[in-house]
Amino acid sequence: MNKPFRIGIAGLGTVGVGVIKALTKNADIIALRAGCEIKIVAVSARNKGQDRGVDISGFEWVDNAVDLARYGDLDAVIELIGGSEGVAADLVNGTLDNARHVVTANKALLAHHGYDLALKAEDKGVSLTYEAAVAGGVPIIKALREGLAANKIHAVYGILNGTCNYILTMMRETGRDFAEVLKEAQELGYAESDPTFDVEGIDAAHKLCLITSIAFGVKPDFGELQVQGISNINATDIASATEFGYRIKLLGIARDVDGEIMQSVEPCLVPIHSPMGIIEDVYNAVYVEGDSVESPLFTGKGAGEGPTASSVVADIIDLARGIQVPTFGIAAKNLKEAPRISMGDTRARYYLRLNVIDRAGVIADIASILKDNDISIESLVQHGRDPDHVVPIVLTCHETRHAAMIEAVSLIENLDSCAEKPCLMRIEEL
Ligand SMILES: NC(=O)c1ccc[n+]([C@@H]2O[C@H](COP(=O)([O-])OP(=O)(O)OC[C@H]3O[C@@H](n4cnc5c(N)ncnc54)[C@H](OP(=O)(O)O)[C@@H]3O)[C@@H](O)[C@H]2O)c1
Repeated sequence: MNKPFRIGIAGLGTVGVGVIKALTKNADIIALRAGCEIKIVAVSARNKGQDRGVDISGFEWVDNAVDLARYGDLDAVIELIGGSEGVAADLVNGTLDNARHVVTANKALLAHHGYDLALKAEDKGVSLTYEAAVAGGVPIIKALREGLAANKIHAVYGILNGTCNYILTMMRETGRDFAEVLKEAQELGYAESDPTFDVEGIDAAHKLCLITSIAFGVKPDFGELQVQGISNINATDIASATEFGYRIKLLGIARDVDGEIMQSVEPCLVPIHSPMGIIEDVYNAVYVEGDSVESPLFTGKGAGEGPTASSVVADIIDLARGIQVPTFGIAAKNLKEAPRISMGDTRARYYLRLNVIDRAGVIADIASILKDNDISIESLVQHGRDPDHVVPIVLTCHETRHAAMIEAVSLIENLDSCAEKPCLMRIEEL
């Protein structure tokens, strides 16, 4: 067999420990697949003395993770620290500068700096791979970059954040509101103590950014993404969606609209039995529309020790085999600036929930604003009556321009009778 493929691992948390376990547990079959032994030479984290539940005494300990970039004769550095700046960024830059391969699970780093890093990797003739960064154990990066390389991609839809999908599923199953379910998810360890990145859609947006780049051959550009989270969704929305035949999902959408690219992360209504509607609990899914392949669905666990380590190790095996592919599927210098459609020009059907004071003329006021903006109501539901108190009104609208819908909602929000911020969601008929 060939000489070992030598790696250094930076970060020994959930993913780093998972990678050590996977490489140890399946060492024999991994060596056969890789064509050589995968040898962990050195590791680094913050706290050397911490018990990590795995034996690291056989590996060299490096105090400063950034030093792994030039440490010994490593073939690749595995960056599993996280964060778009700081140590992770310094380590990845330093490793590429030193013409060594990088494997990472760090979507934040790649969403913000992926283009420059890809240029650097190509300039140095090495790989920058990140299968674990998107949808955890689901090999969607490889699928888009390699398996579907023959296709012109029309659209990619993703449920890319397991925490949000879990919260939405629990809200529906228990009838409880967002805050209550979030608190429980935090107690169970499904949500971080600071859940902002997850529930405000930022984590999903980092991932969508990378998917869009591969699917459409454009530079990853996080700044251009439209991002909205799930914190404004309440029990009425969940119940109403079900009544209309839909589920609410935090959806990442990357779609070609007449040669321009729409890119957004937002809660959407999708039909209950559609490919995205059936994805529940912590599961992730990516649904691709390609001209030859039609519409494959990829689904599985998007996070956690095992699934994430599975993807990191798959990248390492590829490198040991000598397989190198461009970071975003085409040479970085050929990635284009994305021709982006203004969100206002996109069209969709919409769901709108209003909390209004129950008095004569309110519905007429709302209908008049919608009519003035060329928006036609498809259905309108008010459950119960409570004169002079706040009641929810839920309506769906026929397809209309996003800009018209936004204008109408802002006028409705300014009505005296409108008691709370309205909840507007796109309806996606997948
Ligand atoms: N967890 C998942 O399910 C998952 C899924 C997909 C992608 N990812 C990505 O994988 C990466 C790692 O996530 P994780 O969940 O494994 O994180 P984690 O459990 O918080 O572990 C982070 C590790 O980085 C080390 N670290 C932090 N700051 C450091 C520094 N300044 N110098 C050296 N080491 C430092 C920590 O050291 P100590 O242990 O000594 O404190 C820890 O071992 C992130 O980019 C994350 O977005 C995670």
